[in-house]
Order: sequence, then C-alpha cells, then structure tokens
Amino acid sequence: MRPAITEALLAVLVCLVVGANGATTAAQHRLAADRGLRLDSSPNDTAADLAAWRAQFEALPPSPWWQRFWPWRQPGLEPQHLVRVAPMRPDGGLAAPAELRLPAAALEAELGAGLAPAVNAADPRDDSFYAYNSSAMTPLVPLWLSWMTDAERMANRSHGLDFAVAWRLSSYVAISYCNVSSIAGWNCTRCGGISADFTPEQVVFDSAWDLLGFVGYSEPLDAIVVAFRGTDSHSIYNWVQNMRTWRTDLALGYPNAPMGALVHGGFFTSYNSSALASNITAGVTALRRRHPGSPVYVSGHSLGGAMATLCALDLRLNLKMPDVRVYTFGSPRVGNLIFAQWFEGVVQVHWRFTHNRDIVPSVPPGYMGFYHVAREVWVVDLLYGHTLVGVCDASGEDMACHNSMCHLGLCSSLADHLLYLSEMYSPHPMGC
Ligand SMILES: *[C@@H]1O[C@H](CO)[C@@H](O)[C@H](O)[C@H]1NC(C)=O
Ligand SMILES: *[C@@H]1O[C@H](CO)[C@@H](O)[C@H](O)[C@H]1NC(C)=O
Ligand SMILES: *[C@@H]1O[C@H](CO)[C@@H](O)[C@H](O)[C@H]1NC(C)=O
Ligand SMILES: *[C@@H]1O[C@H](CO)[C@@H](O)[C@H](O)[C@H]1NC(C)=O
Ligand SMILES: *[C@@H]1O[C@H](CO)[C@@H](O)[C@H](O)[C@H]1NC(C)=O
Ligand SMILES: *[C@@H]1O[C@H](CO)[C@@H](O)[C@H](O)[C@H]1NC(C)=O
Ligand SMILES: *[C@@H]1O[C@H](CO)[C@@H](O)[C@H](O)[C@H]1NC(C)=O
Repeated sequence: MRPAITEALLAVLVCLVVGANGATTAAQHRLAADRGLRLDSSPNDTAADLAAWRAQFEALPPSPWWQRFWPWRQPGLEPQHLVRVAPMRPDGGLAAPAELRLPAAALEAELGAGLAPAVNAADPRDDSFYAYNSSAMTPLVPLWLSWMTDAERMANRSHGLDFAVAWRLSSYVAISYCNVSSIAGWNCTRCGGISADFTPEQVVFDSAWDLLGFVGYSEPLDAIVVAFRGTDSHSIYNWVQNMRTWRTDLALGYPNAPMGALVHGGFFTSYNSSALASNITAGVTALRRRHPGSPVYVSGHSLGGAMATLCALDLRLNLKMPDVRVYTFGSPRVGNLIFAQWFEGVVQVHWRFTHNRDIVPSVPPGYMGFYHVAREVWVVDLLYGHTLVGVCDASGEDMACHNSMCHLGLCSSLADHLLYLSEMYSPHPMGC
C-alpha cells in the first residue's frame, strides 16, 4: 500500500476511535435528536454505516464553515477543563498566561507535549495553571537544514529572510488581538513596545465572521503593514478540530488561477465575503498613494495567516501592487499543491513561521489534499535560553521541519501555537 494511503487510513481509524470514545452528554443527545441525527459511531459500524452516518452531516443545510462541525465538538457541549497556560520563552521566562478551555483528550495531548503543572503564585491552591516547559524536548534536530542561532538570526539576511522584520511584524500581529478602539488609537500596552511608530489607517472587525485585521504605515519598516489575528484563544481547539474533520471545503477553484488550484472554501469565503477584503484593500490603496515606493507586508497568525495569504494574492492580482511580502505565523494549510506553487510565483517573498509542535500548521491535513506554501521557517526552542531557527527547503512541506514532529500528520500542541516570537493571543486575564 502506498504510504499516503496507509497514513490516511490510520488517521481515519484514529478519528473513529476518538469519536467512538467521546463521552456524550445529555445536551449532545438533545442536539442530535433535534436534528434527527445519530450521535455516535459504534465500534461495529461497517464502512457503509460510517459513510451513511457522515452523509447525514454533510446533508445539513449550508451554514458558515465554522458551524459545520460534528455535534459533539460544538463548543460548550463537550466537558471542558479551564486551564491557564503560560508558554515558556526560550530564556525560561513565562509569557502571560492564556485561558484555554480544553476537553480531556486535548489536555492530555498537551501534557504529553510539554505542559507541566506550575505553582500559581497568585493562588497556590489553583492546580489548573500550567507552564509550558518541555518544548526543549522537541528537537530531533536534523543536521542538513540551515540553522541559525539567536545571535546570528537577528543580523543574518541569508536566504532573504530578514529576522528583524519578522520580529516587528510578529509584534504587529500580536496587537491585532487587542480591541478595535485600542488598535485604532494605538494606545494599547503592546502598541508602545517594539512596534511604536506605527500609524493605523483602517481597523476592520467583522463580527459576523469574527475576523479582525488592520492596515497602517510602519515608520521603522518604511512599509505598509497588514496584520490579521486568528481565532480567539478560547476556541482554538474547536477550530482546529473543524479543520481536521471537515474535508469538503477543499473544493473552491481560486478565481483566475491555473486549473486545479483549489483553496479551502471556508478561508476564501471568510476573506472575500467579510468586510476584510474591501476595507483592508481600501486602506492599502489609500496608503499607497501617500507612500508610493513602500512595500506592503501582509502578516497574520493562525487563521489570520490564511487571511494574509489570500489578501496578498488579492493585492497582487486585483490591485496590481508590485511589492507584496508575506510573513505568517502558525498558519494552517490554505490550498492544494497547485495553489501553493502558483501562489509562490505570484507573491515572491513569503515566509511561513512554525513553532515547535504547533497543532495548527498540521491542519487541514495533507491527506485531504492540502499542501503548505513555502518557505517554512521552523522556530525550535531549546532549553536554557537557546533558540534555533531552521530555514526549510523550498518544497513547502519539508519533512525535516515542523512535519517531523507530527505523528500521522498531526502535531499536538496548542501551547506552541500561542507563542510566536511575540505572544500571539489575547492575554486573558491580563489587559492588552
Ligand atoms: C453492534 O451490532 C449489534 C447488531 O447490529 C447491535 O445490536 C449493537 O448495539 C452494536 N454494538 C454497539 C456497541 O453499538
Ligand atoms: C522548567 O524547567 C526547568 C528545567 O527543568 C526548571 O528549572 C524550571 O523550574 C521549570 N519551570 C517551571 C515553571 O516549571
Ligand atoms: C549568514 O548568511 C550567510 C549567507 O548565507 C552565511 O554565509 C553566513 O554563514 C550566515 N551567518 C553569519 C553569522 O553571517
Ligand atoms: C485609546 O484611543 C481611543 C481612540 O482614540 C480612545 O477612544 C480611547 O479612550 C483610548 N484609550 C485609552 C486607554 O487611552
Ligand atoms: C468598511 O468600510 C465601509 C466604508 O468605509 C464602512 O462603512 C464599514 O463600516 C467598514 N466595515 C468595517 C467592518 O470596518
Ligand atoms: C470576491 O468577491 C467579489 C464580489 O463580492 C468578486 O467579484 C471577486 O471575484 C471575488 N474574488 C476575489 C478573488 O476577489
Ligand atoms: C479595550 O482595551 C483597553 C486596553 O486593554 C481597555 O482599557 C478598554 O476598556 C477596552 N475597550 C473595550 C470596548 O473593550
């Protein structure tokens, strides 16, 4: 059997086992009954049973993509643990804790991937506080990558990767997790840091799609910057589950792309049907008139990475912007191989950062036909103040980089998703 097929079958098996073991609640049964659906698969289901079972979900009326999940994965229906996770920086310092609501299985996966209970100084009785402390165990560091260490990477422009730019963009993207008024006024706490000297032009919040992006002019970069945030940190887990299980979305041919270039329909619709496409591009156009020679950096974290990828295409193809550069952090896969290769030709500068075993870059899975755009930069934390940054090969799916950490194609860590050069999430319970 070809390895890809074996992997797909194994992944299906894993899904089935997880599905069958998932404890169901009264609320879930009510929901299923309301819809006339059978809730669980059972261990003795045949392949035909499963196909029929799946078909009943696919036959549901169209709804926004994030609502089309399996019923037991609907937020609030699965019993969840509230934990506070403080990712650990390479120097050993703890980042601000994020509150996550994780089902038991996800919490276990995190514990396996390096979460350790930490004493919560504020309340020592609180045992729901975890520090992410074992990312040092990550590397089985391959030797044949181009590795840069901390000191080098700040200065090195090898491969055209400008780490100082990446660092600053990651700060802008972190700011996209603040609220609209503090971004528009550029008076959030984060706004005063490395990312000062920024003039916001447009802040776009689309409540229907829960998307936020902003565009402005960065003096230090002498560039127009677009930044998109991802999903709220509470719901990352549910969002990731949707990416794993919902395959029908790789269906949309990208307009004016070569035959067979497919993108995730949910991502495309989110970008194109929300206020993002029109208002962000309007902001970029206005800034271009004032700064005609400046490049446009398009950046984003998580779902925002997918938005950035699509936005960059929009700017290149529809607005004919000549110099568009993309830096994404923990982006999911956006389309298939044909799309990825075409994208790389249209947008010349594209860096896709991954971190340790971050779960998000492993979805939607490759066995469903999705394929990453190049070029990946894999950030690996080592213990005791040491970080390695691997510049991966031009394939987009370098098996020696982030992929090497993902068993059966799935990486497990949400905590790694929260820290990307800057703290990439709304730092509950702290301010912004
Ligand atoms: C297995 O199949 C039998 C016969 O169809 C059925 O009665 C039984 O409930 C199934 N087992 C489970 C755990 O669903
Ligand atoms: C993290 O691990 C290091 C080394 O094992 C240890 O010294 C430190 O106390 C740990 N920190 C936390 C918050 O668990
Ligand atoms: C930086 O990049 C250049 C060009 O690829 C490389 O030769 C060099 O070893 C790298 N490191 C430093 C410290 O310059
Ligand atoms: C930040 O700026 C916005 C817009 O100018 C303003 O409405 C808000 O009151 C300011 N907030 C603080 C804390 O200064
Ligand atoms: C988008 O821009 C239009 C026109 O300026 C404005 O009316 C609308 O409120 C903006 N939408 C968002 C979500 O910012
Ligand atoms: C986005 O939507 C508009 C209309 O809402 C459409 O004209 C356009 O072709 C779509 N696609 C792109 C890539 O902008
Ligand atoms: C926005 O964030 C700022 C800073 O964290 C806070 O002071 C303000 O109350 C928030 N505004 C809204 C409307 O949530």
